[in-house]
Amino acid sequence: MNASSPSPAQNQASTAGLYGGVTNRRVTVRDLASAKQRGEKWAMLTAYDALTAGVFDEAGIPVLLVGDSAGNCHLGYETTVPVTMDQMVMLSAAVVRGTQRAMIVADLPFGSYQESPAQAMHNAARLMKEAGVGAVKLEGGERSARSIELLVEAGVPVMAHIGLTPQSVHALGGYPVQGRGDEAAHQLLRDAKAVQQSGAFSVVLEAVPAELAAQVTEQLAIPTVGIGGGPETDAQVLVWTDMAGMTAGRVPKFVKKYANLRGVLGDAAREFAEEVRTGAFPAAEHSFH
Ligand code: KIV
Repeated sequence: MNASSPSPAQNQASTAGLYGGVTNRRVTVRDLASAKQRGEKWAMLTAYDALTAGVFDEAGIPVLLVGDSAGNCHLGYETTVPVTMDQMVMLSAAVVRGTQRAMIVADLPFGSYQESPAQAMHNAARLMKEAGVGAVKLEGGERSARSIELLVEAGVPVMAHIGLTPQSVHALGGYPVQGRGDEAAHQLLRDAKAVQQSGAFSVVLEAVPAELAAQVTEQLAIPTVGIGGGPETDAQVLVWTDMAGMTAGRVPKFVKKYANLRGVLGDAAREFAEEVRTGAFPAAEHSFH
């Protein structure tokens, strides 16, 4: 075995649980396929920086998504539309550096793949070569099938994203639930089958009725990752700032807040400022003599 050949451990799909499981290598697409076969559900979180990604990696989250939700959740834009390839490369590289075992999936941002499969390939290669991610995600079902096919043929693992596709916010006129009504439900099923047929290893289903997401999950061999898709998908993803209570203001109905980080951080900042004002900080133990 030379330095570049995969070790037996890398070659084998993990049969241990995905959550907190693999410790001597990164989670792979084969591990996720095995999890679907044994009916194990898994969690995915977004991450946009090395420090936060490291926390989630230590917590055992098997897949981290450097989502273009960085646009509204990290970079201060209103939507994901302005996010650039250079920004995605920078954020993704940080997340890769901060982690050891999670599979890192990076979004191809708006405008970086819609022109042609060749454009998708060029930018997916940037994310893999310059940032070191293990997979890319792109939005669209049938409309993105040719690009997915080319990427997969070239050795790029692709996670697809159908249902509500936030990069189309201006065309959709907001973020409405998708797949309601017979025609829309049939189109969603066609999209799901098209991305599987093109070789995607997994598909995100965003903001679709739970019954429809369950039907898609049952009909696909690849894992489905729900966000606002009810409880029957193979995996669940949340935007970390929503999940941890960092987001200001209202969050979508499908979000559950597991902490109140915005409150905790705000309290810490206020207490620090107050102690500086009163002279309580720094104390003797924080000073050099
Ligand atoms: O960009 C993102 O965070 C996403 C998730 C919402 C799936 O695409």
